[in-house]
Amino acid sequence: MYKIAVCGCGVVGSGVCDALMDQKEKLSRRFAREVGLAYVLDIKDLSGTRYGQYKTDDLETILSDPEVETVVITIGGLDLAAEYCFRSLRAKKHVVTSNKAVVAAHGPELERLAFENRRRFMYEASVGGGIPIIRPLNICLFANDITEIQGILNGTTNYMLTGMFRRHASFDEMLARAQRKGYAEADPTADVDGYDAARKIAILSSIAYGGFVDYREVPCTGIRKVALVDHELADKAGFALKLIAGSRFENGKVYISVEPKLVRRGHLLSDVDSVYNAVLTKGSYTGDTLFYGQGAGKEATASAVVGDIIELLGAPEKFSLPDFALKNAEVAKDETPVRYYVRLASPSQPAAGALLDLFGEDTLCLFTKREQDPWEEKIQECVSAVITPPFTPGELDEKLGGLDGICARAKLVLKVLD
Ligand code: HSE
Repeated sequence: MYKIAVCGCGVVGSGVCDALMDQKEKLSRRFAREVGLAYVLDIKDLSGTRYGQYKTDDLETILSDPEVETVVITIGGLDLAAEYCFRSLRAKKHVVTSNKAVVAAHGPELERLAFENRRRFMYEASVGGGIPIIRPLNICLFANDITEIQGILNGTTNYMLTGMFRRHASFDEMLARAQRKGYAEADPTADVDGYDAARKIAILSSIAYGGFVDYREVPCTGIRKVALVDHELADKAGFALKLIAGSRFENGKVYISVEPKLVRRGHLLSDVDSVYNAVLTKGSYTGDTLFYGQGAGKEATASAVVGDIIELLGAPEKFSLPDFALKNAEVAKDETPVRYYVRLASPSQPAAGALLDLFGEDTLCLFTKREQDPWEEKIQECVSAVITPPFTPGELDEKLGGLDGICARAKLVLKVLD
């Protein structure tokens, strides 16, 4: 029997166990041998669940069973999950993981270790939930020089932004819903502050550009500061507001960031809503290619894990070493001019003329009034926003200094993705 062990029976792990148990016959038929779940390692008591019969507490039991060919690591966090990946590869087991923290932090070492041991290290489920993107980048798009990746790579924040803007639900309510649905990380600050998306764009960029991108070098801003009024103003001007994880490869350098951006309606990412993710790649042969699907959740992520297991069953000896396992990428600060959305608040309406003088004639000015009631007395606040012509970050800083002169404070500055 081809035995599979699953370490970590949480949201994703239990989804993998379900899929392996439900699809056992189909799997075995496809490969003309018995294939099935043999061990489930977890500290939780699994008696009374359908996984109870497979339960073990000890990784050694799994590693010392010669019939176990593949170990699935769906443990969250970093250290224990990484240790299990290293130990399993050293014990000459194939490893499949959904843990992006492990891949982002230890990807090159684990790829090298797998290669030295003539085993495979697979992590399709680490980026984009159920979307096939790692294998397409590694194999299907291999002929291309990839020059750009733009993605919505966090299901939790996309689900939250969609609910906050469409149904006027609060940030806290949407976060609680995302947690209940199993989308959010154990520590959801990784989602809302952009660190989860930073790991994912670092993984994709490492594969695409052939040099390891350290996720700690990704400038990262989350969604805490965006408000309903930003959505309303952006919408009026023909933009959607999304957390964008993007990177570009130019002259040997990687320009990368995670930040909320205004995305022009009609752009392929502008209508990606709710828990859906999308990845747009630009290749020298293909031009634009778009990958779309559910970016988080038990079933979608389990589907990607099982896809890796199928790949292993079909081609266990397809060993290769990606370039990023051998060299680091150079990450540089992006000074390209782009348009900006700048939201201001002031007690009275700032003169459109003054804003045009400051940012230039091609500036788009948007206004709305908002009633605030901080001291049980209605106060009208004027919220204005501009969409500027393209500026470099340095030029924009200079302009923002000029806002003092027109009695307004810059409250939020976002880039525009045209
Ligand atoms: N917390 C992650 C997300 C899970 O919301 O995208 C999938 O990686």
